[in-house]
Amino acid sequence: MQRRRRPARVLVIPGDGVGPEVVEAALRVLRAASTRCGAWIETRTAPAGDAAAKRLGSPLPPETRRLAEHWADAILKGPVGETAAEVVIPLRRIAGAYANIRPARSLPGVEPVKPIDLVIVRENLEGLYSGIEWEVPGAAFAVKVATEAETRRVARTAAEYASRRRRRVTIVDKSNVLRRVDGLFRRAAMDEIKKLYPGIEVDAMYVDAAAMEMVRNPMRFDVVLTMNQYGDILSDLAAQVAGGLGLAPSANIGEGKALFEPVHGAAWDIAGKGVANPTAMILSAALMLDWLGYGEAASAVERAVEETLARGEKTPDLGGGLTTMEYAERVADRVSCTGGAGGW
Ligand code: IPM
Ligand code: MN
Repeated sequence: MQRRRRPARVLVIPGDGVGPEVVEAALRVLRAASTRCGAWIETRTAPAGDAAAKRLGSPLPPETRRLAEHWADAILKGPVGETAAEVVIPLRRIAGAYANIRPARSLPGVEPVKPIDLVIVRENLEGLYSGIEWEVPGAAFAVKVATEAETRRVARTAAEYASRRRRRVTIVDKSNVLRRVDGLFRRAAMDEIKKLYPGIEVDAMYVDAAAMEMVRNPMRFDVVLTMNQYGDILSDLAAQVAGGLGLAPSANIGEGKALFEPVHGAAWDIAGKGVANPTAMILSAALMLDWLGYGEAASAVERAVEETLARGEKTPDLGGGLTTMEYAERVADRVSCTGGAGGW
């Protein structure tokens, strides 16, 4: 394990809707991992989202932004409501988070649509999320951006993941229509991986065909490398194939800072009832532990989630009868590491 001279600084953003509930559940598990696996973490909590906008006049208040920029090593963020884009896109930029890692895999005790075990590596700063958009009377425009440098950088991330998995990267784009922008993405990504990772098999698919294949034969995919908006859409699709959005975590990785959040949204319909499934949030915390250098703690949390689900101890969305916190307690109780002391 990496030796730290100070605890890792985690900025916690509870968010809106089911956010505060699933974040509390994830913190419960994180504390267990911290104590039992020696993950040395310090947390601070800050507001962002719809409630923050109402109360403080901004969805990403200056103090939250300041902590994210100047204090945090990592940000652990719950889902946000209507203002989600105004929170998450600036946070991704603050973190310089060029790669959005979204694993989707079938878990024990959860009925998938089809068995699936893939990772979507989504380019996270460019594409149609460039923020360059304007209107004139009767028309509106958005600029889709792909730069060679960003494409190559995220391609290396995809190849790194693949080299620890089934050694295959599938590039997903629509370069038959967007010949220039998607064409550059495909060419640069393909070239980078072939040049630097000769042991990795690379192929490419158009996004429509990839969507169909992801439902028809998901095990065909190992690592899917794709552009920002396609990754947004395909990651919801893959999550549903795996058993539901309540299970899907994500990591937004920058060079020295990263943001971890569930793929799902605020789920207002079940907010405040204590029944939301915190698995996606807990697994996002596990991805964070791994990124912080606490790999053993991360694996312990993943194992604890799997054991809990395998025993049929689940929240109502998966046909179980546990509340959010009851489920989190069961997971926390099963977090175990050999040796390792620490705590926060
Ligand atoms: C996601 C969300 C965000 C995105 C929105 C809220 C900006 O849908 O994280 O998948 O599109 O990236
Ligand atoms: Mn999305």
